[in-house]
Amino acid sequence: MAAGKGTRMKSRLPKVLQRLAGVPLVQHVLATAAQLQARSAVVITGHGAQEVEAALSGVAASSPETALRFVRQDPQLGTGHAVQQAVPALADDALVVILSGDVPLTQADTLQALIAASGGTRLALLTIEFTDPTGYGRIVRDGNQVKAIVEHKDASDAQRAIREVYSGIMAVPARLLKPWLARLDNQNVQGEYYLTDIVKFAVADGVEVVAHTITDALQVAGINSPVQLAELERAHQLRQAHALMEQGVRMQDPARFDLRGQLDCGQDVEIDVNCIFEGRVTLGEGVRVGANCVIANCTIAAGAVIHPFTHIDGEKLGVTVGEGALIGPFARLRPGAQLAAEVHIGNFVEVKNATLAKGAKANHLAYLGDATVGERVNFGAGSITANYDGANKHRTVIEADVHIGSNCVLIAPVTIGAGGTVGGGSTITKSTEPGALSVARGKQVSIANWARPQKQPKSK
Ligand code: UD1
Ligand code: CA
Repeated sequence: MAAGKGTRMKSRLPKVLQRLAGVPLVQHVLATAAQLQARSAVVITGHGAQEVEAALSGVAASSPETALRFVRQDPQLGTGHAVQQAVPALADDALVVILSGDVPLTQADTLQALIAASGGTRLALLTIEFTDPTGYGRIVRDGNQVKAIVEHKDASDAQRAIREVYSGIMAVPARLLKPWLARLDNQNVQGEYYLTDIVKFAVADGVEVVAHTITDALQVAGINSPVQLAELERAHQLRQAHALMEQGVRMQDPARFDLRGQLDCGQDVEIDVNCIFEGRVTLGEGVRVGANCVIANCTIAAGAVIHPFTHIDGEKLGVTVGEGALIGPFARLRPGAQLAAEVHIGNFVEVKNATLAKGAKANHLAYLGDATVGERVNFGAGSITANYDGANKHRTVIEADVHIGSNCVLIAPVTIGAGGTVGGGSTITKSTEPGALSVARGKQVSIANWARPQKQPKSK
């Protein structure tokens, strides 16, 4: 169910597209469905339907086993009405698991247990006890047997005292669900078609209703406001941090760690405070990441050190950092940066779509774009590859053991031959021979005893 408006978010964006750990809420739910190897996932959209469907169109491709379908609910007349819209999309032999697009952190093993509780013949409800159950549908039992769910607004004082609530998640065979949905009405305080009324029909039809009760509130937490979104984000991040620490990752402060994607770590990885990892990141054995780094879509080999305030984003091309490399502080690695072992990239150095062979160094204030840099090259402070002529990108090749002085501009396409030296301040437009010294700058002029102009005294 993803049709609700989410008024309390006070956002233009449909609620289910708000992001938790960098991913739209509803996408978390679909990822869980894919983990269950669901035959299909039916998304019921309403508010912002087009936007939600467009945002999820890419998700469909990523889990080929679970076919993604959309149905529209317009207007939104309640949760029962929402599920009614999905009926044509549900196969009669299916087991239907009903989830909410704004409840992102339900775990697949919890849903497996719920499915097992249904056993293909029963109505299984996921329930939880709250000390403050205000607002939730209450689980009304007769002895131990579940008899009904009564919505908070419709409940008597005695029913409101019940602390076991319906989580909003159920598993039910489609062949039972369909006729029950057809019997729903909106004769209640809110004038809505309540999905939860099907519990009464199950009881009347002699179908067993079972409650699968969990204690982990995070798994059923829904998001209605920016404050709830932030709270759930922190709780989720803390769980991710703990899971990594269980694997041996050492963190200076798990409360100051953010993972928006997947992070794979070797042994003895250390992560200082305020780092953000996005997309797919792999950190090899013994990698150390300093404070305040943002690292996305890259692979960092064993023993590399990422000093503080480094920004790495490989986007689609990826970034690789070789064994024992030293990066930062204040370095920027962009898509296609491929750094071999023991490369040094220092402060205010940007690398994009460039290969640096073993031991190459660019330690200060430099730009290497569309370049192939050989082993042991030293690229001086303030030097750049001028790779863009305003229309096309061109490549710079710097062969092994070249020394590029400070403040050089290498205008691509150009090749600096192996072992060559480029004098500081040079603008290089022609390729150079191996071993050559190239200097391309205005000759120095020094005038002895130069008298500087004096200020004229003011006339009265
Ligand atoms: C519902 C349950 C309640 C349960 C609670 C758990 C009903 C009648 N009540 O309450 O027993 O304790 O969830 O959070 O089901 N939605 C639609 N179309 C609609 C209405 C809702 O798609 O017409 C979607 C919402 O966007 C949301 C989900 O269904 O994702 C649940 O709706 P919400 O209004 O939050 O449920 P409650 O009425 O609070
Ligand atoms: Ca409601």
